[in-house]
Amino acid sequence: MVYDRRPDDMVRITTPELANAFIDEQVQAVKEQVGDKKVLLALSGGVDSSVVAALLIKAIGDQLTCVHVNHGLLRKGEPEQVIEVFQNQMNANLVYVDATDRFLDKLAGVDDPEQKRMIIGNEFIEVFAEEARKLEGVEFLAQGTIWPDILESEDGIKAHHNAGGLPEDLNFELVEPVKILFKDEVRMVGDALGLPENMVYRQPFPGPGLGVRCPGAITRDRLEAVRESDAILREEFEKAGLAGKVWQYFTVVPDFRSTGVKDGKRAFEWMCIIRAVNTKDAMTAEIEHVPFDLMQKLVDRITHEVPGINRVLYDMTPKPTGTIEYE
Ligand code: XMP
Repeated sequence: MVYDRRPDDMVRITTPELANAFIDEQVQAVKEQVGDKKVLLALSGGVDSSVVAALLIKAIGDQLTCVHVNHGLLRKGEPEQVIEVFQNQMNANLVYVDATDRFLDKLAGVDDPEQKRMIIGNEFIEVFAEEARKLEGVEFLAQGTIWPDILESEDGIKAHHNAGGLPEDLNFELVEPVKILFKDEVRMVGDALGLPENMVYRQPFPGPGLGVRCPGAITRDRLEAVRESDAILREEFEKAGLAGKVWQYFTVVPDFRSTGVKDGKRAFEWMCIIRAVNTKDAMTAEIEHVPFDLMQKLVDRITHEVPGINRVLYDMTPKPTGTIEYE
């Protein structure tokens, strides 16, 4: 059955059995809703859209086309994982669009955070709409809307990420199979669908991606420094057993240089700031007490392996007064 709202008496999905029952029910519902028509999905590689993709592949196979737009602001290895999991392992119809140059060219010289967000959001819709127009006979748009999105948009807290962004000529009917689920339930369902653990249990990642962790006007070299330092941080947190424990952790490379010394020579380079926070609802956050020896390892690796970085700092600021992200 296609639900409009979460039934008041719905049991929280906390076991593989409940997840499988939900999957069976929604596979049937999607088949009934869609018939033999085609469905389009913007697949970011985040938990919600990935679970929707896996569910729809199970329900309607190649009637689904997934579009993965790489805006150049994804973390290291993310586009590759989307291709590996969905195209190679699940045999999905996947359109991969490397739009890195389009996004970075539009963002060049733009230093206002909200303008950066707007450019990234608008360009995303434009690229996705272009791909949608190339496909014939699509009548449905699948979205990873979840129950908190609906509640928050009803409360006026935020316009939920999906609502009505596409141009009018793309008038699709929506397919939202995880719309009545809470996040932990989406993860249970993702697990039951066989998605990789690091996809299902990954930390939150903002839509504008690494763009907001490269404060000020984004340049390709500084963006690479953010991406490489983030990859080292994630690798070391994983090795130290912190990956599933710390709520969100990432690096930021501000547009500011300081004097340092590398190989006996003056090195006038950027600093990398590490952020690691715990929270329940992201409205407030406390910093993680990262062990000192892990910090030393991170400083050593980031300053030696990431071009352009000569210092590493740890941000000890809770929210408030800091926000979690820097922009
Ligand atoms: P702040 O920085 O406001 O972040 O303390 C709270 C949570 O929201 C995420 N965040 C975003 N997510 N688009 C998103 O999809 C955005 O523009 C955005 N800004 C912040 C942030 O990563 C944190 O989890």
